[in-house]
Amino acid sequence: MKKILFALLMASLLLVTCTRRGGKLTFMVGGAPSEVEFWEKLTESFEKETGIPIDLIRQPTDTDQRRQGLVIPLKSRQRDPDLFLMDVVWIGQFAASKWLLPLDRWIHRDDFSVDPFFDRVLEFADRYNGDLIALPIYVDGGLLYYRKDLLQRFGYRAPPRSWTELVRCSLEIQKALRREFPNFWGYCWQGAQYEGLVCNFLEFAASNGGGFTTQEGELCLNLPENIEALQFMVDLIHKYKISPPNTYTEMKEEEVRSLFQSGNALFERNWPYAWSLHQARGSAVKGKVGIAPLPGFEGKPGVSALGGWHIGISRYSDAKAQAWEFVKFVTSYKVQKELVVGLGWNPGRVDIYDDQEVREKFPHLQALKGVFEGAVARPNFPYYTLVSEIVQKWVNLSLAGKIGAGEALDRAEKEAERVVRAYR
Ligand code: GLC
Repeated sequence: MKKILFALLMASLLLVTCTRRGGKLTFMVGGAPSEVEFWEKLTESFEKETGIPIDLIRQPTDTDQRRQGLVIPLKSRQRDPDLFLMDVVWIGQFAASKWLLPLDRWIHRDDFSVDPFFDRVLEFADRYNGDLIALPIYVDGGLLYYRKDLLQRFGYRAPPRSWTELVRCSLEIQKALRREFPNFWGYCWQGAQYEGLVCNFLEFAASNGGGFTTQEGELCLNLPENIEALQFMVDLIHKYKISPPNTYTEMKEEEVRSLFQSGNALFERNWPYAWSLHQARGSAVKGKVGIAPLPGFEGKPGVSALGGWHIGISRYSDAKAQAWEFVKFVTSYKVQKELVVGLGWNPGRVDIYDDQEVREKFPHLQALKGVFEGAVARPNFPYYTLVSEIVQKWVNLSLAGKIGAGEALDRAEKEAERVVRAYR
C-alpha cells in the first residue's frame, strides 16, 4: 500500500513538474568551489532517485553577495528560485518579509520528525511566529587551525589557549620561518569589510567578556571589553605584525584558507569546511594540521560565532511540493552523513555525530561538539544586516588604522541605535 501511495505521489509530482516552465525545480546555492561541486552531485542524485528534474543556480562564496542574489527575485515575487540555502543571520529578515513558506503542513502530512536537529538552532533560527520556516543543513563555528608539525618542531606541546600565548608563539615561529618562507605569517583571519568580519569581531569581543547585546536585549557595542578586543585585532596587524596587512582589505574565508593551505601561516581562523580541503591531495599542509577551539583572553574561555546555513522554500515557488521533496532529501540521514564524509561539515542533525563511521573518520567532530553547542549567535532581528553593515564599516576602518578602536565603536553604536529606533 505504501509503495502504491509513493508511486502515485511521485507520478503527481512529475505531472506538475512537466507542466512548469522549463520543467525544472530551481535551487540556489553558493560557497567555495568544492561546495558547489558537492551540491551539483547531490542534485544529480536527487534527480535520479525521485525523477524530479532540478537546476542548480550557482552563487558566489561571499554571504553578503548571496543574500543580494536572493533578495532581488524574492522582492519581485519571482517563481525562481524555488528553494535556497540561507545564512543563519538572514533568516530573520526573510521570515519578516514573508518570503518563506511555512513547512508545518508538509511536516504533519509526512510525519517528518524535527527531533534529530539541533534543538537550540531550530528554536533560535528556524521558527517564526510559531511556524517552522527553515531547517538547518549545517552548523558553523569559528575554529583554530594550526600547524602541528611547526608547533612540535619549536617545542610546543599543545595549541595556544590564550591570545597572549598565540601572539608569543607566532612571533617566535614567524621570525624563524621567514628565512625559509619570506611570506610566512603567524595568524590569518577574516578582516575584510563583510559579514565574516562581524563574526571575527564577535569572537574576539566575546572571548574578552564582551559582545553585542546586554541581558536586556539592548544593542551595545561601545563596551570596554569590546574596545580592548578591537584594539587587540588592530595590534595583530600593526603592532605585533603577525597578521598580514591585507587582512583588512582582502581577507575573507577563501583568501585565509589559501594562505594557510599554501604553507605560509602558522595559525588560521576558519569554519569547519576548511578541514577537508587542507587534507586534500595537493594541499601543502596535508597531514600537518591540527584543529582546536579558538583561544580566549587571559583566564577567559575562547568563543566561537554561531554560523551555518539553512534550507527554505520560497513562498512564490510554483513547485512547492517538489521543493519539499528536496528539503526531505538533503535533511535525510544519508545525505547529512555525506555532508560530513564528503566535505567535513557539521551537519544540522545531531544523530550523525554518533554515527560509527563518522566518529572514526572525524574524531575531532566529537571533541569539538562543545564549541558548536556553546557558540555565540549574532543578534536575530529582521534588520540585522543593516546593523552588521555599520559594524563592518567601523571595525574595518579601525583595522585600517584610520580611527581609534574606542571612537570606531562609539560611532558604530550611535549609528546602529538609529537603525534600531527606526525599526522598533
Ligand atoms: C559562514 C557562516 C555564516 C557567516 C559567514 C560569514 O558561511 O556559516 O553564518 O555569516 O561564514 O562569512
